[in-house]
Amino acid sequence: MLDTINTLRAEILSSQPASSEQLEEFRLLYLSKKGKISALFEAFKQVPTVQKKEIGGQLNALKIMATERFENFQQSLALLETSVVADDLTKPSQPFLSGSRHPISLVRKEICDIFSRIGFTIYEGPEIEDDWHNFTGLNFPLNHPARDMQDTFFITSSPDILLRTHTSSVQVRAMETQKPPIRNIFPGRVFRNEAISARAHCIFHQVEGLYIDHNVSFADLKQTLLFFAKEMFGESTQIRLRPSFFPFTEPSAELDVSCSICGGKGCNVCKYTGFLEILGCGMVDPNVLDASGIDSKEYTGFAFGMGIERTAMLKYQVNDLRLYFENDIRFLHQFISA
Ligand code: PHE
Repeated sequence: MLDTINTLRAEILSSQPASSEQLEEFRLLYLSKKGKISALFEAFKQVPTVQKKEIGGQLNALKIMATERFENFQQSLALLETSVVADDLTKPSQPFLSGSRHPISLVRKEICDIFSRIGFTIYEGPEIEDDWHNFTGLNFPLNHPARDMQDTFFITSSPDILLRTHTSSVQVRAMETQKPPIRNIFPGRVFRNEAISARAHCIFHQVEGLYIDHNVSFADLKQTLLFFAKEMFGESTQIRLRPSFFPFTEPSAELDVSCSICGGKGCNVCKYTGFLEILGCGMVDPNVLDASGIDSKEYTGFAFGMGIERTAMLKYQVNDLRLYFENDIRFLHQFISA
C-alpha cells in the first residue's frame, strides 16, 4: 500500500493542469468520490491494525497535498482568465492622446534653428541678475529710466539684484567668459513691471544674438537679419532698418519686415504701413566691449534682440498676448501639428 501511495504522490506532483478542463480531470481522477485517493481510503479499511498508524498518516498527507495543489492551480487559472482580455484582440486600441508644443516653444526653436544654420550657438544665462549684467555692463547711465522700480522688478537693493529685463544681460556673460570670435544666441524669459494687456505682459521671451570678431560691420548685421527674415517669414520678405537708440549699441536700429499678412499692401495688422517692427539691433558699443574685457580697438560686433511672443503673433496671427499664458486647451490644440 505504501508503494501505491508513493507512486500516486509522484503522479500528482508531476501533473500540471493548464486549463479549467484539465483541472476538472485532475479533480475527478484524484479527489472525487470515485477518484484514486478515495479508492485508497477504501482499501485502507483492510490494512492490518499495526500498520494503520503509519499508512493512515501517509494517506492523509497525500490527500492534503493533492487538495492544496488543486486549490493552487484553481487560483492561478482564475488569475490567468481575468488578466487575459477575452475580447476581440483585433479591435483598434484606445487612441493615444499626445500633447503639443506651446507656440512660444515652437517659435523659439525655429528662431534658434535658423541662426544655428549660420553658425550661432545657444548660450543661456540666469533669470535673476545683478545690476552689472543687466544695466551697468551694458552702458546704461545711472539715471536711465529702465533702472526705475516702475520698469524693473528688483529683488534686493544694494546690491541690486533683479529679474533681468532683457536677454542682453547674457551678452555680457558671453563676453566675459569667451574670447572672440563669439557667435551666440541667447533665448530666455525676461521680466518687466508692466500692466498686463493684449499687447504687453510682465513676463515674456526674447532671443538675443551676438557676433564679435575682427572687422564685423553693419553690412554683416544687415545680411544676417535679411537671411533670418526670409527664413522665418518667407522668401519674398523685405526688410527695413530704422535708426533707433539703445545704450549698448552704436549705431542702433530697429528692424521692420514686410507684413506677411497683406504682403506689404497694407492691412489692420501692419496699421496700413506694409511693415511690422520685429527687433532692435546695432553695433556693440565700444564701451560695452571694453567693460567685458574685449579690446574694442581690435574687435567689433553686432547684437540684436527680438521678442518671441511678437514674432509668434505675426507668424500665427494671434492678436492677444495673454493667450500665450492662459494655457487654454482650445488655443493650444491649434498647434498640434505645427
Ligand atoms: N535688449 C533690447 C530690448 O529688450 C533689444 C536689443 C538687443 C537691441 C540687442 C539692440 C541689441 O529691447
